[in-house]
Amino acid sequence: MTPFSRITGTGSYLPPRRVTNDDLARELAERGVETSDQWIVERTGIRARHFAAPDVGSSDLALHACRHALEAAGRSVGDVDLIIVATSTPDMIFPSSAAILQNKLGIAGCPAFDVQAVCSGFIYALTVADAMIKTGSARCALVVGAEVFSRILDFNDRTTCVLFGDGAGAVVLEASETPGILASDLHADGKHVGILCVPGSVSGGQVLGTPLLHMDGQAVFKLAVRVLEEAANATLAKAGKTAADIDWLIPHQANLRIMQGTARKLKLPAEKLVVTVHDHGNTSAASIPLALDVAVRGGQVRKGDMVMLEGVGGGFTWGAVLLTL
Ligand code: ACO
Repeated sequence: MTPFSRITGTGSYLPPRRVTNDDLARELAERGVETSDQWIVERTGIRARHFAAPDVGSSDLALHACRHALEAAGRSVGDVDLIIVATSTPDMIFPSSAAILQNKLGIAGCPAFDVQAVCSGFIYALTVADAMIKTGSARCALVVGAEVFSRILDFNDRTTCVLFGDGAGAVVLEASETPGILASDLHADGKHVGILCVPGSVSGGQVLGTPLLHMDGQAVFKLAVRVLEEAANATLAKAGKTAADIDWLIPHQANLRIMQGTARKLKLPAEKLVVTVHDHGNTSAASIPLALDVAVRGGQVRKGDMVMLEGVGGGFTWGAVLLTL
């Protein structure tokens, strides 16, 4: 048993096709769907997103992100003894994208499974990996968020299709004598299923219902701002810290206004907010590890900094992890 787990390396990957708001507006206009760069930027802060090629799955994006994270941690695939992938857009119904990723990494034997908590998935996955390391079930985990949300977007619905993108982020989480992850806080409330969902299912070889994303944007917005503040405060209390101790806030990158609202409620200056949503759109479970990696590689977030990660998404699910990098 080890007292703590600690992130020792981060990595990320974006598929090469970058689609700006103007590109998307042109493509949508061909379908008779009207939008504009100005509307998208004003309401969301998003300027561009990346879309994966049709033959690229979540596990492919995850593979690149994991290689970068392992390299940053100075670890090889042979050191990995746990793989958790947070995704709502897995390669297949089964097996898990984590099992497929394990094979692509060229390893076998260690436990590998997916976590499905939509945009909170990475926070859930990190919390599970932390618990498994602290109880001695693992020593070196790959914790990944990977999504191809472009596959489940309704490009005839301008209220949702302009918001999301594809990508992957990963961390290497290792057993450590020093912290590390300080505290976490997870929640779900299934009565809100209907405000953010992909209600389709597969049965008897057919898709039943709609296999495309449906969202009540205003209901999500209100709920998100409230629960992100609550999760941050609960996590700080568990760790015996206050918001003033936070060096960096890295919330789920869905909408700049939600993120700025959360920072304001915590009385954090805007400079402490890590923002990548303008460049990535909302990449669901991938958004937090992607933003973390961009901030680490950009020299913004440094070793020893105290970082609050926060997720909120379909379910409804939400949660936070406070850690020292
Ligand atoms: N381009 C142009 N106009 C648009 C577009 C668009 N892409 N989308 C909607 N509009 C129009 C609407 O039709 C409406 O027009 P009307 O007034 O003539 O009826 C007008 O813009 C305003 O629409 P609203 O839905 O009221 O716009 P709102 O200010 O609420 O912004 C948004 C919509 C951006 C979706 C906002 O509600 C939001 O960000 N919600 C949170 C969504 C979110 O973050 N989801 C993800 C979190 S969880 C997860 O990541 C899965």
